[in-house]
Amino acid sequence: MTMQQRRSPDRGPKGRALDDVALADVRELLGHRERRRDLLIEFLHLIQDHHGCLSAAHLCALAEDMRLSQVEVYEVATFYDHFDIVKEGEARPAPLTIRVCESISCMLAGAERLFGELAGDADPQAIRVMRAPCMGRCATAPAARVGDREVDHATSHKLLAMARDGDIRTAAPDYVGLDAYRAAGGYQLLQKVRDGVLTTNAIIEIMEHAGLRGLGGAGF
Ligand code: FES
Repeated sequence: MTMQQRRSPDRGPKGRALDDVALADVRELLGHRERRRDLLIEFLHLIQDHHGCLSAAHLCALAEDMRLSQVEVYEVATFYDHFDIVKEGEARPAPLTIRVCESISCMLAGAERLFGELAGDADPQAIRVMRAPCMGRCATAPAARVGDREVDHATSHKLLAMARDGDIRTAAPDYVGLDAYRAAGGYQLLQKVRDGVLTTNAIIEIMEHAGLRGLGGAGF
């Protein structure tokens, strides 16, 4: 049997059928942004933030608009914990999500109890309570996240009060600006590499002997 014979015209298009309304939604949200593949995660965030989840129809529409396969878009969307994929016929998540870290430092600091209290106290119509992996705030465990706002030394009372008050947006910490950082000697090493003072091999050797651990991770 040849390849041509194997392909049946009755099978229809690969993946989900395109929904015109979802496509119009996606195009409006993305606006004039360049449809670059490396912006896929940014675009998924745009849709998730606007609609509260990533529906199957929107994922399909995004794939169409970016000229990517549906598999590629779905693969990226499902890799990250913070995207909520909603398949056809599934209910949308509650409007607000509280995530409780369940990795080891937080577990030792009472995350399980916190999760139980929250699950009992929160209105499931308004708040979804979920377990989540390490948030990088192990030193201030138990850590949690209300919407986009990460919370140290979390308690059920504190988290629910923040949810009630709408205190759910990211809070930027005090940080050093680029100019101040460079004025204080920042990026000098990078400059040496750029100027050819340090070779790539020399840098690799320095890193190999630096005893660094934990260089991976993308659990944002
Ligand atoms: S273990 Fe909970 S923030 Fe790292």
